[in-house]
Amino acid sequence: MRVHVADHPLITHKLTVLRDVQTSSPVFRQLTEELVTLLAYEATRNVRVDPVEIQTPVTTTTGVKISEPRPIVVPILRAGLGMLEGMVKLLPTAEVGFLGMVRDEETFEPTTYAERLPDDLSDRQCFVLDPMLATGGSLGAAIKFLFARGAQDVTAICLLGAPEGVAAIEKQVEGHDVTLVLGAVDERLNEKGYIVPGLGDAGDRLYGTA
Ligand code: PRP
Ligand code: URA
Repeated sequence: MRVHVADHPLITHKLTVLRDVQTSSPVFRQLTEELVTLLAYEATRNVRVDPVEIQTPVTTTTGVKISEPRPIVVPILRAGLGMLEGMVKLLPTAEVGFLGMVRDEETFEPTTYAERLPDDLSDRQCFVLDPMLATGGSLGAAIKFLFARGAQDVTAICLLGAPEGVAAIEKQVEGHDVTLVLGAVDERLNEKGYIVPGLGDAGDRLYGTA
């Protein structure tokens, strides 16, 4: 598994505002979108492209276009939805599928309550969006789900991760082509499975308590 942790002052600045308990939901949503677009630049580094001949006003030249089958972007509901717009801004031709997952706050076990994805993901490059990688239960289950449908490779974009979550994903996806792109890796998880210092409950901060 490849792990890329962003090291850029703009990303750290935006994350700092995001972490602040005083930051309102509208600002939180806006920053989430901006952060994803910045992280997506790195996450799409290996997106497959094919050569294409074009005519400029001056001459003909060879450029590239994103290959078929198109990549698929998969936000994990609910909090991952806040990352979708920022991602498709950079990858407008991608398809979008959905996975709805919620973790049990006592056992940390994830449950999948919704799924809207092609049955066959053979040869597809998949980009999973989830702001928080805590124990790794939710993201690990999502990645395994995509590989079970035939995905060629999976890149996950998370705003924040805990070291425990990164290690858990590494263990769960052994032998698969997985890239993890994170805005930051924080210190640890607390006894409630929250990332420390973290930003609290990402879904609640984006959309309010549900
Ligand atoms: C949050 C977050 C991740 C998950 C991370 O979702 O968005 O999906 O927890 O925790 P884990 O790494 O321990 O699995 P949550 O289950 O709170 O659902 P929500 O997005 O609907 O708020
Ligand atoms: N889910 C969140 O939204 N935040 C955390 O810190 C951990 C899990």
